[in-house]
Amino acid sequence: MVSRRILRAVPLPEATPQRFRDVRRLAEVDSTNRYLLDEARRGAATGLVVVADHQTAGRGRLGRTWEAPAGASLLMSVLLRPALGVVDRQLVVMAAAVAMAEAVETATGVRPELKWPNDLLVGNRKLGGILAEASGDAVVVGIGVNVAWPAVPPELDGIATACNLEGGRPATRDGVLGAFLERYGPRLDDLEATRREYRVRLATLGCRVRVERADGVVTGTARDVDPAGHLLVDVDGDGTEVVAAGDVVHLRRDDQRG
Ligand code: BTN
Repeated sequence: MVSRRILRAVPLPEATPQRFRDVRRLAEVDSTNRYLLDEARRGAATGLVVVADHQTAGRGRLGRTWEAPAGASLLMSVLLRPALGVVDRQLVVMAAAVAMAEAVETATGVRPELKWPNDLLVGNRKLGGILAEASGDAVVVGIGVNVAWPAVPPELDGIATACNLEGGRPATRDGVLGAFLERYGPRLDDLEATRREYRVRLATLGCRVRVERADGVVTGTARDVDPAGHLLVDVDGDGTEVVAAGDVVHLRRDDQRG
């Protein structure tokens, strides 16, 4: 049986936009994305936010699981019902990546880079990730950020990191959550500015990359992101590949950014 015990109300900063004032905090849930997708099917309103201390079946991109030590990561999802076409819906996910990078910087002093499509990185180690899932007119944007880890587990050495370990000062999940909700509203309200800022923060652009896709590996230089959020990779002497889904590894930065 999945626990849905709702804990104390999350103290939100005054600047939190009205649309994100319904924040539910769960002690434990299988997945905050699954929870909000079900709420969306039951008719929940846009703007509902859920935060969990622990997930027993957290979902990651490309069908993976997402694991985090209990109480140490910000595990949250936001339900939106954007009045946008399929292509522009991608922008609400880019907006979440930009807003979370800004929030982490404000709340913890750590400045994450973005890796396509929406990973937060510090020094090539993963600080956070985003998984968006849709149901009808609803989009659930789920975000996991490693905020206050006691240490990096040996199996994730060099692969993952956390805000407190990078910033050298205490970092709190509520601090990052509050800063994110403050930033996400303005980012959603100006999607063109968000698109520009996403490109500025996307460390992938101009990088030599290896892209691992279901149908094979592509190596080349990441040149741009198209309006649908696909990554355009110049493959050495072999034209441009349009990458819709896959894992990107940053190899090294090229001199020129597109
Ligand atoms: C990735 O693979 O990088 C995306 C990970 C997204 C994880 C978050 S944690 C909160 C939300 N609920 C989930 O089940 N997944 C997302």
